[in-house]
Amino acid sequence: MNQQSNEPWWKKAVVYQIYPKSFLDTTGSGTGDINGVTKKLDYIKELGADCIWLTPMYESPQHDNGYDISNYTKIHDMYGTMTDFERMLKEAHERGIRVIMDLAVNHTSIFHEWFQASRESKDNPYRDYYIWKEPKADGSPPNDWQSKFGGPAWELDEVTGDYYLHLYDVTQADLNWEKDEVRRQVYDIMHFWFEKGIDGFRLDVINNISKDQRFLDDAGQSVQGDGRMYYTDGPRIHEFLHEMNQEVFSKYDSMTVGEMSSTNIADCIRYTRPDRQELDMTFNFHHLKVDYPNGEKWAIAPFDFQELKSILSEWQTKMHEGGGWNALFWCNHDQPRIVSRYGDDDTYHQQSAKMLATTIHLMQGTPYIYQGEEIGMKNPRFEDISSYRDIESLNMYEVMLEKGKSKEEALAILQVKSRDNARTPMQWTSEKNAGFSTGTPWIEPAHNDISVEAALKDRTSIFYHYQALCRLRKELDVITYGSFSLLLAEDPKIFAYVRESKDEKLLVINHFYPGEADFTLPDELVQAVDEMEGQFLLSNYEDVPAHIKGFTLRPYESIVYHLTKR
Ligand code: GLC
Repeated sequence: MNQQSNEPWWKKAVVYQIYPKSFLDTTGSGTGDINGVTKKLDYIKELGADCIWLTPMYESPQHDNGYDISNYTKIHDMYGTMTDFERMLKEAHERGIRVIMDLAVNHTSIFHEWFQASRESKDNPYRDYYIWKEPKADGSPPNDWQSKFGGPAWELDEVTGDYYLHLYDVTQADLNWEKDEVRRQVYDIMHFWFEKGIDGFRLDVINNISKDQRFLDDAGQSVQGDGRMYYTDGPRIHEFLHEMNQEVFSKYDSMTVGEMSSTNIADCIRYTRPDRQELDMTFNFHHLKVDYPNGEKWAIAPFDFQELKSILSEWQTKMHEGGGWNALFWCNHDQPRIVSRYGDDDTYHQQSAKMLATTIHLMQGTPYIYQGEEIGMKNPRFEDISSYRDIESLNMYEVMLEKGKSKEEALAILQVKSRDNARTPMQWTSEKNAGFSTGTPWIEPAHNDISVEAALKDRTSIFYHYQALCRLRKELDVITYGSFSLLLAEDPKIFAYVRESKDEKLLVINHFYPGEADFTLPDELVQAVDEMEGQFLLSNYEDVPAHIKGFTLRPYESIVYHLTKR
């Protein structure tokens, strides 16, 4: 039942993210393909997802696995053909599954024809599609900004002797969004895909598109020293997104989610408050930086649990109050596997994977499940640098060695931090290559016995826990609309919260550690428990406590209790 029947569909939806390259290979080429996605639509339906997000499958030289796009309206051969795409879209829609595409328009590949023209001469009509600047008097880059993948963010191009800006890889040149024609081109690309029938976009690093036109030095102002305050949630970002909304999104029944790098709550409210007509929801990453000691990704540290609770709860509360909408997630193609990160992928694999799922899915927003998360896929722990494929990991490995780390130390960091942790082949069966490919996979599969085949046979598997969470979201309005309050804020092991609407409360109690933890119902809820009808809804152990008022939580135990008016 939908409380507000004119509400957009995505408020009660669960999105399943597919990284096609690692999903299912139907040709034996070693890389996944579109037909592989089509083949598994029934599986996604069974899980209970309403929508799939496909990471980029456009023509691309694949320096950054497709986030370096060289033609926005062509499907890369490796993935199949446009006909395959159209069939996949049709079959998804027949099953009631929507499809959103991933668009990277902060930058294009330097092999895109716009860039090829742009670099030719200073008076080429495409010159100002990109951000070109003259060197400083001593020949050095125009400012001290650093690429997010390591090294300077400027590359000298010998053809004209100017530098171009690349916030990511050197083959990903930043587009100049100040130019009206660039924005119009982007809108045309979006229309092209909407006309094919897609249902929306995930917009890659979209809050980086508006650069402060002064191009000043960072000069140590940001922790990372990379200049990010001059382009993150930049000067014209809201204007650009509103324009995009008016020109494109408002014309379709669409869903849009922006990937927001290093953003803040106030801007995310502005991006997503419906009356501002920008985007529908945003991803932010603050809750995934609680294991970055002093903001440093390339270092190993235990995650800061208090910080995790306080960040998630602040985003929940403030986005709710401000009328914004969150995208909820632990995993994606850039993040290590959550069960290996904030859980225990060994002794308490099942319990901790389910507990983490419950924690994030019962918050307010639209949850995303990244392929393999629903079966508890783990980091592969590659033993050799030759197993890595990711450009960021390979660059940072070199940077770490230059900074004096030994090869062993650098490798140990990659094992925990690399984006390739998420990119190993989807584990379908116990057969060769986990049933992903009959050829040689483009990246080595993780060696463990997790598989979809095994998960589907076992009613107590992680898969069925995710399925239950998808179902609960449809059944209980309080998950979609209720307010959020953190309970036991200071507890060092328990992440508990209550979701609340007029006649309902949902009490979500999660124990994040091995060992035991005592739970005592906070005073403010005792009366509600006495007066309302209560029911245990979900747990990750076979039995539930005798009473909700006080009990001992077992390792990684997670309990959901539902209260309704008598
Ligand atoms: C986003 C993508 C990531 C990519 C980067 C540059 O963060 O998720 O995979 O490398 O943008 O496009």
